[in-house]
Amino acid sequence: MSLHRSWAAALAALLALAVLLRTSAEDDNGGSPILARVSKDASTSLYTIAIKVGGVPLLLDLAGPMLWLANCPTPHRTIPCVSPDCDEITTTYRPPGCPKPLPGPDGQCACLAYPRNPVDGRCRSADATTITLAANDTDGQNPLFPFPFRAVGSCAPGELLASLPAGAAGVAGLSMLPLSLPTQFASLLSVAKEFALCLPSGSDGVAIFGGGSFQLLAAPHVELAERLRQNPLPLLKHPYNGGYYFGISGIAVNQQRVPTPLGAFDLQASSGTGGVVFSTVTPYTALRWDIYWPLRNAFDAATSGIARADKVAPFDMCYQASALTVTRVGYAVANIDMMLDGGRNWTLPGASSLVQVNDQTVCFAFVQMASSMPTAADSPAVIFGGHQMENNLLMFDLVKETFAFSGLLLGIRTTCSNFNFTMGSY
Ligand SMILES: *[C@@H]1O[C@H](CO)[C@@H](O)[C@H](O)[C@H]1NC(C)=O
Ligand SMILES: *[C@@H]1O[C@H](CO)[C@@H](O)[C@H](O)[C@H]1NC(C)=O
Ligand SMILES: *[C@@H]1O[C@H](CO)[C@@H](O)[C@H](O)[C@H]1NC(C)=O
Repeated sequence: MSLHRSWAAALAALLALAVLLRTSAEDDNGGSPILARVSKDASTSLYTIAIKVGGVPLLLDLAGPMLWLANCPTPHRTIPCVSPDCDEITTTYRPPGCPKPLPGPDGQCACLAYPRNPVDGRCRSADATTITLAANDTDGQNPLFPFPFRAVGSCAPGELLASLPAGAAGVAGLSMLPLSLPTQFASLLSVAKEFALCLPSGSDGVAIFGGGSFQLLAAPHVELAERLRQNPLPLLKHPYNGGYYFGISGIAVNQQRVPTPLGAFDLQASSGTGGVVFSTVTPYTALRWDIYWPLRNAFDAATSGIARADKVAPFDMCYQASALTVTRVGYAVANIDMMLDGGRNWTLPGASSLVQVNDQTVCFAFVQMASSMPTAADSPAVIFGGHQMENNLLMFDLVKETFAFSGLLLGIRTTCSNFNFTMGSY
């Protein structure tokens, strides 16, 4: 037996043992949470999650309904069209404009799904299948032991990968819907239906599914999950999409409320328009025009003393980097407060409100929402995007329908890239 083969055999034996250990652990007190690396793709500013077996990245879509993988092998497993999984697939939110899946030829009853590319909005119909994933379980501090498992998802034609980060093999949907990864993990792995997400601005960040603690290296290192769980905020239920919506009552710049129209941020319970929704496929927070302009003008006034630079698309207002002072939480500029329902604020300091576009130029990192954005399909008031989520720990509880946020981690001298990915031990 070659060295390579004996390694493979040893690994297979270890994996089998891990599955056995997990199974027996589950009998007692449920499984342990699992961990996946989250990376930022420099050219698209989108995020991928390494949850597919072999570490192949999938686009991380926080609002995505399900999992899909391009170029399934032929043949691949199919799911019977008369089955609970297929019922979920066919009743899962179908994005506007997606073709209804066509029934298969007579005598063949394979369930069809409608995978959608959340970046450009295209969708297709394709076989539902099961997809092999792999992750390490975790104590919230280190990865502990890798194991594979299978989740329900969909195949997709390779052309659906266009506009995703290079190397991404599909999309991992993390929404509140029944076939999203957090929902499936809860039953597949007997873990809590909650997850923690820490989007990086540079090297790898992390997602932990299933609850438990969440620790980052800092001096001394910090456990963040317990405090966050004590300060939850309600998520708002959208009538048909599974996105994470939350309530804000206004926005302030430098402690001054920005004059937005009355009810500008409200989510309309019947039509599903309006509201504020998190999106990891929108690099910079996009605001409806009647919110964007008052905010932009207030920030303009609050930073009037700072030398401007030529605009760099897609941004509308840029500054000369040399005219700005650096602080621990980014360039020193007026804070933006997202005034959350319930009286708390999500404060966005310079690292969240500005983005460095080149050596000389820093821009106001918000854009006006365009109807051409696929994430604008349900006409939210605000799409809270990746740049503003970066280096914040976000926790979502799908049972209690709550979320919690840490605020910018730079403030406590750590970042989402400070998870310790060295294998630990039980
Ligand atoms: C488990 O963690 C180790 C160490 O970070 C990593 O090399 C490996 O790829 C991970 N395995 C899985 C299946 O994620
Ligand atoms: C939230 O922000 C607003 C506007 O900046 C401010 O007036 C208010 O005092 C803040 N509330 C808290 C609890 O910090
Ligand atoms: C990272 O985790 C490993 C394994 O638990 C530990 O030995 C190492 O000291 C940790 N690194 C730091 C910087 O704490």
